[in-house]
Amino acid sequence: MIAFQGVSKSYGGSVALHPTELAVKKGEFLSLLGPSGSGKSTILNIIAGAVAPSTGNIALDGRDVSTVPPRARGLGMVFQNYALLPHLNVFDNVAFPLRIRGISKSEIAQRVKNALERVGLVGYENRKPREMSGGQQQRVGIARCIVYSPSVILMDEPLGALDKKLRDQLQGEIKRLHRDLGTTLVYVTHDQEEALNLSDRVCLMNGGRIAQLGTPDELYFEPVSEFVADFVGESNLLEGVVQGDNAVRLTDGTTLQVRSTEGHATGSAVKVLVRPEKISVLGDSDTEGASAANSNLYRGTIGQTSFIGGMTRFELKLSTGAALLVKTISSRAAERAAPGDVLSVRWSARDSVVLKK
Ligand SMILES: Nc1ncnc2c1ncn2[C@@H]1O[C@H](COP(=O)(O)OP(=O)(O)OP(=O)(O)O)[C@@H](O)[C@H]1O
Ligand SMILES: [Mg+2]
Repeated sequence: MIAFQGVSKSYGGSVALHPTELAVKKGEFLSLLGPSGSGKSTILNIIAGAVAPSTGNIALDGRDVSTVPPRARGLGMVFQNYALLPHLNVFDNVAFPLRIRGISKSEIAQRVKNALERVGLVGYENRKPREMSGGQQQRVGIARCIVYSPSVILMDEPLGALDKKLRDQLQGEIKRLHRDLGTTLVYVTHDQEEALNLSDRVCLMNGGRIAQLGTPDELYFEPVSEFVADFVGESNLLEGVVQGDNAVRLTDGTTLQVRSTEGHATGSAVKVLVRPEKISVLGDSDTEGASAANSNLYRGTIGQTSFIGGMTRFELKLSTGAALLVKTISSRAAERAAPGDVLSVRWSARDSVVLKK
């Protein structure tokens, strides 16, 4: 649906976006995620036509739109600051894109009604933006975007100005809206939870380059770099050296069974990613036989502990000096655990992902 070919953007000597290939599928919900200044808005604005790329071509639905002006691209846009017209009421704000397209009065009335129904704002037609809450104003922004059935919807941090609770609620609404409309949606956010929660695929940006493009699962469980592992979720990153097939010798001298060392030469320095919730706590009785092949067994002393919604989260200081972050669904062993206690943990080789250092 959207295809970038060698698209880049520079301002003077500074590069906002390095030459980029990107393909967004029809009907897909794609998030652009990344730290501030990583190029997310640049990509969105190039799709919208608001920013002209320095190199490359952009195709929409098979048509090269590189030289097509923004309005003729048939895209819908939702902004962080709502960008509503303050002197117009809700009805007229939502009707605005239809009026400039010269659509008949009766059709406008029908389409505005449909759009307001979709965002739950029927009855608010005569309110002015300043008479509404932030969440309601953004619903108006979304209604104004979907009212002319754009083939692609672009959203730049649409929930950035809202508090956490409202953000969660509107996230749910945007997800449902996307499912109902089936429109291709490109969504900019720097909130990794939001991106993982909403998207079919996430495009993680770093310094004007794509760090990884994949499903939320792929980014979380199969990150291609330390940057990705670190940006998406919490992680343990253990330093070591590749010892041989699927084994890494850690700096503490212990050997870790890992999923795969493919692509990493023996002797090369690596980091091994273990997600905290992939580590299981062993009860006193299950230690025998726990050092079975394909699993890693460690013993340590519990440090700081906290409980978060049915999960126990604690730090485990290993005798070797390293510390592991462990998150576990409150099992008996974990519930009994208190700072200072000694505990055994295990995780599978499958859950140890080798990353280049
Ligand atoms: N008009 C401009 N002139 C000069 N530099 C710009 C311009 N617009 C963006 N940049 C630079 O390009 C880089 C990428 O900017 P971009 O707005 O795409 O980042 P972003 O990922 O959207 O960040 P944020 O999360 O802060 O919105 C930044 O270093 C920024 O300073
Ligand atoms: Mg931005």
